[in-house]
Amino acid sequence: MKGIILAAGKGTRLYPMTYPICKPLLPVFDKPMIYYPLGALIQAGIRDILIIVPPEGLQNAFESALGDGSQFGVHISYMEQPEARGIADALILGADFFRGDQVCLALGDNIFYSPDLSERLMKAASQNDGATVFGYWVEDPRPFGVVEFDDDCNVVSLEEKPENPKSNYVVPGLYFYDEHAAEIASGLTPSARGELEITDVNKEYLKQGKLKVVPLEKGCTWYDAGNAVSLLDAATEIHRLQQENDMLIGCIEETAWRQGFITDEEKDALADKMKQNYYGQYLLNLKKDEDPE
Ligand code: G1P
Repeated sequence: MKGIILAAGKGTRLYPMTYPICKPLLPVFDKPMIYYPLGALIQAGIRDILIIVPPEGLQNAFESALGDGSQFGVHISYMEQPEARGIADALILGADFFRGDQVCLALGDNIFYSPDLSERLMKAASQNDGATVFGYWVEDPRPFGVVEFDDDCNVVSLEEKPENPKSNYVVPGLYFYDEHAAEIASGLTPSARGELEITDVNKEYLKQGKLKVVPLEKGCTWYDAGNAVSLLDAATEIHRLQQENDMLIGCIEETAWRQGFITDEEKDALADKMKQNYYGQYLLNLKKDEDPE
């Protein structure tokens, strides 16, 4: 399975914060926002990752944060999205990258945390037919993709930003697809807001009887850090959870090490650069016999 992170949005909902820096490189508490979706892909066991970045030479900023990924035992390549055409465009741009393979698409501003996230993601990644999305309960689902499902988790309906939602479950920005996703995305027409909607890709899988939904339980935390309030809320919650559980969330160095993508020595070399702060000290103190969170 391949991974794509869509990190190309202008971040207009965060202006003027995003005038000088792209949204996925903004900090969410103690690490760049993109660490969280990248960590989710690594937790799913994915090693070959394409990051779709904005045009106009902004790739350098991403490269200085993540390089080619080899320090985390993964391979990261970059591609510019010439025009913001919607989330499903990432599947079209990435068509050659994941041809004949499955793909996990992650949005650059979505943050997930759950003690058993790794198991859930590995399970979703192990299915090789159709599509798998998650369902996350929120008070007001209207700004999101909304999924309605029955007691056996059969999807009944999907709607993008409905005025009258049929359920409180939203579809967060982490999608697992089989190799037909690019073809499906290529057949879409833009929505009223002028975008190729990822919900329309999911609707096509639903029509074909190949869409699974996995509800995320209460212990799971999800944020779309796309506006100033949710960005602050996400940072505050990450800080709280990290302090409460004495661990780091979205720490790709740790995740890569726990996955066996990097050795103890490689993990310590990454930690050494940050040994003056708690992040580096935390990494240096991790030992193999400790229970993963
Ligand atoms: C997008 C998707 C929506 C999804 C959300 C998750 O919304 O269109 O289905 O629930 O991401 O963050 P947008 O960020 O384009 O408003």
